[in-house]
Amino acid sequence: MPEKRYVVTGGAGFIGSSLVRTLIPHGKVSVIDNLLTGFERNLEEVCSKIEFHRADIRVFSAIAPLLMGADTVFHLAAIPSVPRSIDDPVPSHEVNIDGTFNVLRAAAEGRVRRVVYAASSSAYGDTPTLPKTESMRPMPKSPYAVQKLVGEYYASVFDSCFGLETVALRFFNVYGPRQDPSSQYSGVLSLFMKHLLARTAPTIFGDGEQTRDFTYVEDVAELCFKASQAEGVSGKMFNAGNGGRFSLNLLWRLLQKIEGVEIAPRYGPPRPGDVRDSMADTASAIAELRHAPRFSIEEGLRRTLEWYRQAL
Ligand code: UD1
Repeated sequence: MPEKRYVVTGGAGFIGSSLVRTLIPHGKVSVIDNLLTGFERNLEEVCSKIEFHRADIRVFSAIAPLLMGADTVFHLAAIPSVPRSIDDPVPSHEVNIDGTFNVLRAAAEGRVRRVVYAASSSAYGDTPTLPKTESMRPMPKSPYAVQKLVGEYYASVFDSCFGLETVALRFFNVYGPRQDPSSQYSGVLSLFMKHLLARTAPTIFGDGEQTRDFTYVEDVAELCFKASQAEGVSGKMFNAGNGGRFSLNLLWRLLQKIEGVEIAPRYGPPRPGDVRDSMADTASAIAELRHAPRFSIEEGLRRTLEWYRQAL
């Protein structure tokens, strides 16, 4: 049987580059990335084992030939960040909605078996019930949350109308090595790591008691692969979280303890579009995708911190 081909859009990004490493033992891996928020250096030591295509998912004709005949397309290319989608909504709309439509269309026309789509926990919004279960009504609070939700709906409609298998995974605050800490829109833990190592104070927006289900990137990558293999799940959406939640205050305290330093954080006003609490119900992903996260928050933070210590 010929080797399976996997395509990762956004494969030079933080989560995509981890997924690429997970996929290499399983088949031929092609990456599509326009290097807007991704970096070629994220693929440095694996670049001889993969195919890299610098292409933009906003351009259908550029990506369609690259997807043709693939077994699975993992669609992770996106402009992430809730505040970025508020400050500058046009590019995030074009990439996250139009780009996703292009990927699904190219996959359907190119006879791809399945698309695994990176959806977002932000779709839940501020519904008070915790944990968040897949059957809850979405209540997006930001353009980013709307965009990611539209992608989910499109994925399920491509399954029902165009016969393309799709699985959507709602990622919950992913963290780990290679998350870029250089922008104001960077994920909070990458910023915490940067400040911890520089011995400077991070800014916490609001009172710091907001909670998130922080999920280690390798657990997410593993789940993406499982979602590509599972039977009887096409057209569905699953939470891709850890099933726990931690406040920002607690995490900053934990990081100071690991590092043996004391640095008081600065507190700023709450961020527009911010959700208060977030935690995944992981029962469906465990039952149907055999989700089995391996990294506790302590272990994940330690590994991530060691990576930043080497990298920065
Ligand atoms: C949201 C989504 C997540 C998505 C991500 C994409 C939710 C619950 N989660 O993450 O699924 O993948 O967007 O970017 O909506 N913060 C600070 N100081 C900082 C930076 C952030 O206090 O310097 C705070 C934010 O106000 C927020 C928390 O940290 O309360 C997490 O922020 P961030 O890492 O940007 O992720 P979310 O917006 O939660």
